[in-house]
Amino acid sequence: MNKPKRYTITSALPYTNGPIHIGHLAGVYVPADIYARFLRLTGNDVVFIGGSDEHGVPITIKAKNEGVSPQDVVDKYHAIIKKSFEEFGISFDNYSRTSAKIHHETASEFFKTLYDKGAFIEETSEQLYDEQANQFLADRFVTGTCPKCGNEEAYGDQCEKCGTSLNATDLLNPKSALTGNVPTLKETKHWYLPLERYEDFLKEWILEGHKKDWKPNVYGQVKSWIDDGLRPRAVTRDLDWGIPVPVKGGEGKVLYVWFDAPIGYISSTKEWAARVGKDWEPYWKSDDTKLVHFIGKDNIVFHCIIFPAMLKSEGSFILPDNVPANEFLNLEGNKLSTSKNWAVWLPDYLLEFPNQQDVLRYALTANAPETKDNDFTWKDFQARNNNELVAIFGNFINRVVVLTNKYYEGLVPVPNELSPVDEETLAAVKAYPDVIASSIERYRFREAQQELMNLARLGNKYLADEEPWKVIKVDEERTKTIMYVALQIASALATLSEPFLPFSSAKLKSILCHSALDAESTWNDISSKNIFLPSGHKIGEAELLFSKIEDDTIQFQLDKLEASKKANETAKKVVEPQKETITFEDFAKLDIRVGTILEAEKMPKAKKLLVLKVDTGIDVRTIVSGIAESFSPEEVIGKRVTVLVNLAPRELRGVVSQGMILMTENVEGKLVFVNPDDVNVSNGLHIS
Ligand code: MF3
Ligand code: ZN
Repeated sequence: MNKPKRYTITSALPYTNGPIHIGHLAGVYVPADIYARFLRLTGNDVVFIGGSDEHGVPITIKAKNEGVSPQDVVDKYHAIIKKSFEEFGISFDNYSRTSAKIHHETASEFFKTLYDKGAFIEETSEQLYDEQANQFLADRFVTGTCPKCGNEEAYGDQCEKCGTSLNATDLLNPKSALTGNVPTLKETKHWYLPLERYEDFLKEWILEGHKKDWKPNVYGQVKSWIDDGLRPRAVTRDLDWGIPVPVKGGEGKVLYVWFDAPIGYISSTKEWAARVGKDWEPYWKSDDTKLVHFIGKDNIVFHCIIFPAMLKSEGSFILPDNVPANEFLNLEGNKLSTSKNWAVWLPDYLLEFPNQQDVLRYALTANAPETKDNDFTWKDFQARNNNELVAIFGNFINRVVVLTNKYYEGLVPVPNELSPVDEETLAAVKAYPDVIASSIERYRFREAQQELMNLARLGNKYLADEEPWKVIKVDEERTKTIMYVALQIASALATLSEPFLPFSSAKLKSILCHSALDAESTWNDISSKNIFLPSGHKIGEAELLFSKIEDDTIQFQLDKLEASKKANETAKKVVEPQKETITFEDFAKLDIRVGTILEAEKMPKAKKLLVLKVDTGIDVRTIVSGIAESFSPEEVIGKRVTVLVNLAPRELRGVVSQGMILMTENVEGKLVFVNPDDVNVSNGLHIS
């Protein structure tokens, strides 16, 4: 498109069933924020939209599990998510939520418009039903085998393994997520959006129109969807949580979450416009507006096929110019998972790394899953901070600021004649705004950030080569020129780092006293003006922009992950149900004593058995115990144990066992002794 007059930038509305984690940040919010900040800095009219996606099955399942209402769940997480985005510096112009009145109205109206146009098919069909839960099963209420790739844990709306979008009735061996029951079939009426009617439009618009400018992963997914044949897609559900279907016959039904959620971008824009006194419509209806959706790859079909079909059908809206979807970020080699607590949670990060938002932003962008899935590791995070932010960027700035204060009391010196190296260096600096811009405009944020760091490298190298700290001893005039040039690089870094490192950029601008400049040194000024930090301008004192992250900080994070791994393994273990109740009389029959193991040896040819000699206080007797797989003979000799002494003798492989050593399993499923030293004798347990 020609140069747009304004930009509407959207970022996927997160589900309010948990906090934000690094996967969300790397895939969606950090790149969207870089883009929005960059466009604002370069003087564009921008609205950057966010909000919470508060409908849908995962939220109702979470509410059920926690015994609270869905509204409670969304209120809790909306607040957590909104606050953490703010603290992290995601610069939304508006952050709304789909339970807001304006959204219910907007989505309802949208549905009615399509209904009135005859854009839907109305159909009664048999759908999966859980007799016990009294509920129809769609989307995440049902799991089963993906008909396409055989994944046994596919959901009723999507297989996360192969990315295929599914209808619940497509699943093989379906199972209710509520009760585990095999669903039955029951008739119900729904409205469908017949996607096949949009085939020609989608082929022309995306397959022909965006072959070159859309990312190959996005284009490829869309093409394979269209090639597979488009089918009607239900846009209503039998549920009691969501936006009521606003037409006759829709009683007791709600809009499908993926019908209402993307309309949330529009409602959030309306909310913003009303707040700031603007007209929302040009941002969605004017051809000179560039609409860009930032999403993760699991959202591609909804943003490239279904939502565009809805917008097209409505008729008055523009379509996205691009949908730069990212692949997934893994964590320490494993898939991120909310339910398995395998994640780095944003609220935790903000608490544990105060004032270090930029470090995470930097590490996530440096490793952004732009073209393939990528891995976040804490070691890499540490290395990015220590070897790049501290050692290159921070070090350069610190040297420039300290030396300027030391030599010139903080005043930018008047340069003398520039040497060829100075000229080249300044010319290189002036080229950076366009180089970085060009990467950002093509949604290559890692490359853009690498260029930013190259500018800091250029600064470091310039200082290392010119050595003002040595030159000052022999040539004060030359030193002034060197420091002047270095200060220009520092100033350019302050401006150009803003989209990537907004907190550090603000700090650096304040150190360099940018606000005292006659005209603020903007992105575009760096290329067009010759001087961006004029001679005589006073800068402030040095302050550290970044600080080293030590090994123990990283180890703490690794230990946390290790603990979640353990907890998962424990949770996976099925806890044996409690046995039938016994009476006190039954219990009183047990004669339990504290004994000491005197001797122990393996039973020949029996993997599990140890033959023990135990001093019971009454006598020394032989007991055969099935603990050989967990304990060696050496480990148990001398151990005080709890012994059931009146168990009827029993012959095991020719050895008569007279009693039983009491053992149990701990939470990790490990066999442990019922240790007499842990028994509180005064609690009524009669052990002697
Ligand atoms: N809540 C969805 C998810 O987390 C994303 C919704 S994007 C929307 O996958 F715009 F359509 F809301
Ligand atoms: Zn699959």
